[in-house]
Amino acid sequence: MKRKLLSVMLIAAMTAALTACGGSSSSSSSSTEEASSEAAEESTDEGEEASAEATGQKIGISMPTQSLERWNRDGAYLDEQFQNAGFETVLTYSDNDSGQQVNDIQNMLADNVDLLIVAAIDGEALNTAMNEAAEAGVPVIAYDRLIMNDAVSYYVSFDNYTVGTLQGQFIVETLDLDNAGDTVYNMEITAGDPADNNAGYFYQGAIDVLQPYMDAGTLNVVSGQTDFDTVATDQWSTDTALERAQNVLSSYYADGTQLDVWLCSNDSTALGVAQAVTSDYAGSNTVIITGQDGDEANLKNIVDGVQTMTVYKNVSNESIVTLSLAQAMLAGETIDESLIPSFGIDCAFDTESYETSDGNKCPSFLLVPSVITADNLQELVDTGLYEMGEDGYLSAVQ
Ligand code: BGC
Repeated sequence: MKRKLLSVMLIAAMTAALTACGGSSSSSSSSTEEASSEAAEESTDEGEEASAEATGQKIGISMPTQSLERWNRDGAYLDEQFQNAGFETVLTYSDNDSGQQVNDIQNMLADNVDLLIVAAIDGEALNTAMNEAAEAGVPVIAYDRLIMNDAVSYYVSFDNYTVGTLQGQFIVETLDLDNAGDTVYNMEITAGDPADNNAGYFYQGAIDVLQPYMDAGTLNVVSGQTDFDTVATDQWSTDTALERAQNVLSSYYADGTQLDVWLCSNDSTALGVAQAVTSDYAGSNTVIITGQDGDEANLKNIVDGVQTMTVYKNVSNESIVTLSLAQAMLAGETIDESLIPSFGIDCAFDTESYETSDGNKCPSFLLVPSVITADNLQELVDTGLYEMGEDGYLSAVQ
């Protein structure tokens, strides 16, 4: 725990200015990305079939983008969960554009939503909308990504630091680094979007596990590119990750140097790195590539042996926890760990790890991530959220 707190402090220093916890809303059925309104309509239809008695309350759900696979799932699950529980919903995707996300949230507030659920594009760029939510008395749940504004009441996410430690531990165990002797393994690192508060946690969780091996020379980052800002990937872009990986491979590995492992914070970046390794790496060994999310293309790469693992986060469960929390908030119930049994989902109530502004802790419900490899893909099928085709590849159940 001390180590975790220390890391959190390091991240705070690293990302310089932590602002505050915030929220705001307004509703409309529009979306800034075409497919989102379709997703919303589909969910609406399903919701109407199974709808509970109408609450007369409206929920604004602001998602970052449809260009990254998981948010399509999050948006659809949240929309469906809330509608099935009798809420009216407004679902928007903001095309990875913070200004657009502020507008979308302002529209939700103008539409008199009763509560906002926001997965921020940039955790430090929503102050205008968050302050307006606070003024309007509309509570905000920061969903998956923390918002640096004190208008945020609660945070629902997975244990982001643990996501990184799972990736680091996987590398340690797979290469058996504790028994490496004089063997040196070469590694490269790709992290996430600096605007996303989670990205530093993923990176630091992994680095805290791997640093002793880097210090001992057992792991060698041949490019020398290790600090977060150097290895970060704006907007978690697959193309950006691909381009940097190609540059690293041509600059440092074209002479036949063996690459053993590429730590990638998530699946969208792992997709780009895997593509670069497949096309531009001269060696014939299998490069260990980590990831996070369980995106379909990455699961295919895992089956094909091109990616080695992903840290899976069940976002359907994340939406269920969010619904239960929102219901408790709107009912004026006490919000603490006593709610967790009613979720029926493994998670922790954490009042220490996250701050929306300096010293202002944000009570958080943190779900538990797990490691998926080619050997336990069945666990994904068992969630009921994926199915395995005859070709052995997994696809999300629509
Ligand atoms: C999420 C990850 C996701 C990344 C890019 C992060 O905030 O926690 O699950 O891979 O954003 O979408």
